[in-house]
Amino acid sequence: MSFAATLLDTLGADIITPGADVPEKYHHDWAGLAPVQPLALARPRTTEDISRIMAACHAAGVPVVPQGGLTGISGAAHPKADGIVLSLERLDDIEAIDVDAGTLTAGAGVILETAQNAARDAGLMLGIDIGARGSCQLGGVLATNAGGNTVVRYGMARDHLLGLEVVLADGTVINGMNAMLKNNSGLDLKQLFIGSEGLLGVITRCVLRLHPLPPATVTAFVGCAGSDSATSLLRAARGTLGPMLSSFEVMWPSFFHFMSRATGLGSPLAGEHGAYAIIEATGFDAAATRQAMEKLFETALDTGLVEDGVLANSVKEERALWAVRESPAEYETVLGPVIPFDVGIPVSQMGEAVTRIEAAVHDAFPSARALSYGHIGDSNLHVVVNVPEAGQDQPSNEVKATVYAITRALGGTISAEHGIGAIKRDYLAYSRTAEEIALMRRIKAALDPKGILNPGKSFAEGNCT
Ligand code: LAC
Ligand code: ZN
Repeated sequence: MSFAATLLDTLGADIITPGADVPEKYHHDWAGLAPVQPLALARPRTTEDISRIMAACHAAGVPVVPQGGLTGISGAAHPKADGIVLSLERLDDIEAIDVDAGTLTAGAGVILETAQNAARDAGLMLGIDIGARGSCQLGGVLATNAGGNTVVRYGMARDHLLGLEVVLADGTVINGMNAMLKNNSGLDLKQLFIGSEGLLGVITRCVLRLHPLPPATVTAFVGCAGSDSATSLLRAARGTLGPMLSSFEVMWPSFFHFMSRATGLGSPLAGEHGAYAIIEATGFDAAATRQAMEKLFETALDTGLVEDGVLANSVKEERALWAVRESPAEYETVLGPVIPFDVGIPVSQMGEAVTRIEAAVHDAFPSARALSYGHIGDSNLHVVVNVPEAGQDQPSNEVKATVYAITRALGGTISAEHGIGAIKRDYLAYSRTAEEIALMRRIKAALDPKGILNPGKSFAEGNCT
């Protein structure tokens, strides 16, 4: 009997779907890699189901690719033809919200936006927010240590994590569902799995930290002369808004002019500028929050850091100021396939990075579009590249070599928030020393001696597909 047939026999048709019947949706994630049909799809309902599946795969040496909401754009959830796909989507229970402790306990398959709404309904806030909030799942958010729009205030996914339940490669269940803010009893094992992209274990449940819900939000959209003004504005925003600064996003003309026209969303400002920034402040005193933002804005206008700008007066206006920044879901429609980047660049080198990356891409591919924007408050630059005449066959290897060489030369990192997955693994050594990668592999060998969890991804050995 084939492995898929044995698994089907043991766990039943509710949980196991054999390869030929696996819906196309599970054949790829958002990384744009060619679809792959896995040996089988497993859609377990409980941690115990996952433990049985992992024990069977471990015994047979069959690869396992964990999948969440499939919105990762590094290919960490891309299937392997000789392995099974393990979808966490049915572990979608919000088990508890403790308003006194400020914690949320949930399954790995809970959609981020569902968790955000549940926290808000309880008068609290989950401080993780990313563009894919409506589809991504908590397990994937943690497994990739996702970043997003509020990192400048609340930190990356790992900063929200109190407890974790994980199933190891051999089926062992590690129950680390700590719900206390402080717990120094031995190693903080949960952090091993954050950002491990499914290589060390399968995240099944978590306890997340919640924050008080700030009732006031003030959003500004401003135009600056260029990158240097935008980075000086970041320093001014930190100084004036202090801990109220919850987002600082910058869009360069390559991104903003193109996307505002291509999507028809337009610009909140009448003229054109060398860089655009969205500044968001959240606070507990509405008047003080507004006053602090107005002070920042007026001082920045006086000193020339800002050329023009608007402040939102309603939630509707806030959404409108974010609209172009939130439009990357439209890339497929307005650009076609893109080569995505989420490099980390020291803030002092940000303008230089944008200039050099855009110039180098245009030198190599004169017709290319290279759109630059990002979470500049977190030293995180996004660039997406499309070469129109290349169609589906984008020159990703050449473009990656170009962008990562500049990133390395400027002291940056090849991934600030999306992870390595399948598409950046050849460049891991640009951002990690040989000794660091060797240590990652020793940890992997200790936790997954047969190398069945996501082989070939990120720092794992083996082939990707
Ligand atoms: C963003 C995603 C792509 O910031 O990370 O839009
Ligand atoms: Zn991002």
